[in-house]
Amino acid sequence: MNAPVMQGMQAHAPAHVKNARLIAWVAEMAALCKPKAIHWCDGSEDEYARLCQQLVDAGTFKRLNPARRANSFLACSDPSDVARVEDRTFICSENKEDAGPTNNWMPPAEMRATLQPLFDGCMAGRTMYVVPFSMGPLGSDIAHIGVELSDSPYVAVNMKLMTRMGRAVLDVLGAQGEFVPCLHTVGAPLAAGEQDVPWPCNPTTKYIVHYPETREIWSYGSGYGGNALLGKKCLALRIASAMGREQGWLAEHMLILGVTSPEGKKHHVAAAFPSACGKTNFSMLVPPAGFEGWKVTTIGDDIAWIKPAADGRLYAINPEAGYFGVAPGTNLLTNPNCMRSLDRDVIFTNVALTDDGDVWWEGMEQDAPGKALPAHLIDWQGKDWTPQIAKETGAKAAHPNARFTVAATNNPALDPAWDDPAGVPIDAFIFGGRRSTTVPLVTEARTWAEGVYMAATMGSETTAAAFGQQGVVRRDPFAMLPFAGYNMSEYFQHWIDLGARLQAAGVRLPRIYQTNWFRKGEDGKFAWPGYGENMRVLKWMIDRIEGKAGAGVEHLTGISPSYGDLNWKGLDFTPAQFDTVTRTDAAAWRDELALHDKLFEQLAQGLPQELKNIRAELEDRLATA
Ligand code: GTP
Ligand code: SPV
Ligand code: MN
Repeated sequence: MNAPVMQGMQAHAPAHVKNARLIAWVAEMAALCKPKAIHWCDGSEDEYARLCQQLVDAGTFKRLNPARRANSFLACSDPSDVARVEDRTFICSENKEDAGPTNNWMPPAEMRATLQPLFDGCMAGRTMYVVPFSMGPLGSDIAHIGVELSDSPYVAVNMKLMTRMGRAVLDVLGAQGEFVPCLHTVGAPLAAGEQDVPWPCNPTTKYIVHYPETREIWSYGSGYGGNALLGKKCLALRIASAMGREQGWLAEHMLILGVTSPEGKKHHVAAAFPSACGKTNFSMLVPPAGFEGWKVTTIGDDIAWIKPAADGRLYAINPEAGYFGVAPGTNLLTNPNCMRSLDRDVIFTNVALTDDGDVWWEGMEQDAPGKALPAHLIDWQGKDWTPQIAKETGAKAAHPNARFTVAATNNPALDPAWDDPAGVPIDAFIFGGRRSTTVPLVTEARTWAEGVYMAATMGSETTAAAFGQQGVVRRDPFAMLPFAGYNMSEYFQHWIDLGARLQAAGVRLPRIYQTNWFRKGEDGKFAWPGYGENMRVLKWMIDRIEGKAGAGVEHLTGISPSYGDLNWKGLDFTPAQFDTVTRTDAAAWRDELALHDKLFEQLAQGLPQELKNIRAELEDRLATA
């Protein structure tokens, strides 16, 4: 092996590692976790190939048929380890108020005392991978470096696709550079001679812990997604949101896209939808018939870091370098760019395996009328699956939170500026929940404060992206409920203050919109066709920004288009159908506002006066409606 693998407990770093703090920390963590070896990842293709082969040999990965899916793998997790664990996620600031009422909290000293014995010897029998990564373009002054220590080779290879990972990061870090230390273990030490399992994890004990003040992350017991790939939700959202508050910028659960008109004018939009509510899809949108000459390009699909630039405008970068996206529901009709991204070099997790060594998930068959279901599959739990079994038992071939990991460079719609350290200027923010009722297709906020109110009070039906009950409406402010690294009311205030500061400097603020692609009709089916057809709504937003749209219809919460304001070319959608997706019902909004009040009671401490004012205005509007 030409990679630097250290045997025994001595954590000697390779000669090219110059950062004394890093070397000392790795040695200290190795002494605590007691791995059998340490592997400093160099991020090379060669290393990726070797680790993937090692995962195949261990039974964690199945190599897919290279004729169908070149250089791609399937991992199936332990059935208990399939999603983020929000009730095991902690923000350990010194003061409880700084974590706020929406986060789990424990005093840092108490949490450290809890974790220390759990981490003692937690990597026994396993290799500790040292994974240096950059969130944001390497060396850019917007970027932040993290180093994840993990006993999961699955994590190491996923981090290679999801971030800029490897030796070049250590070179940028140099001797004095700062990094966020991220410690991860699957929490399954091996006794001498004990046989490993394909997906080690700890079935009973999980902790996803953040210390925002000292900027450290400790994760125990899970190998899945946001619990384990610590650059993503833990660093780029929870820790970064706390940094952003201190330093005057934003870390958001937002996709970033570019939209270019047939005349060649380009706008940029950042959109926050809760987990599994359509960010990946919207960021790769293919304009439908009737939008010839329009083009949508992806900057990011999940996270945006947004900073005011010298010209005063807000610029956004995608700190990630890959996509960890929801597989079920993705097909050539709903998201062709995504399907093309998945042709090769993919890690699939918890999808089904076809008899010819390819992958399958629910919804894949829906891209052609009458297309047959596969006659036989191995489901994500390794069991036989047939359409008959599915009919009888309701068994899903793929887990509803099955995901793919793929480098952004696989995306045919990748924006040329996706990697630009300067980022792209944001013209509009969108906030969109998953709501069967009440919330109309699209609404423009009349003011920045009203937009912040819309985002702050957003409700959404829970999805399979997090462990727990599904399909229940909960408040998910800014789609950040599980990801805010500090007090939610202060987070609202940060948004209000930023808007006020930019406005005072004479900057034209981005417009704020609320969307809902998920209203259902009386038949219980989605009443809006969604996916590429969302372009019709996006175009209306651009028209509004350009001053080219009609006056629209003003209602309780803002301004929505009238039927005639949207381009319907290429889609048969009647005014009656439009009414189904846009109608606002006073009684439903009474109930909705009562839920806003409940949220505001919970967040009373530090809740911005501006939001209370908007709430009072809504009351007046409702009374005079
Ligand atoms: P995270 O990665 O969890 O943050 O999720 P995401 O917001 O990127 O969600 P994604 O785009 O992967 O979509 C999740 C699910 O929503 C998939 O099953 C999609 O098929 C479905 N979906 C996406 N867009 C639409 C839409 O416009 N309408 C409907 N009805 N479903 C959609
Ligand atoms: C989400 O849940 O919002 C995700 C997936 O993007 S995970 O990385 O698991 O958090
Ligand atoms: Mn997400």
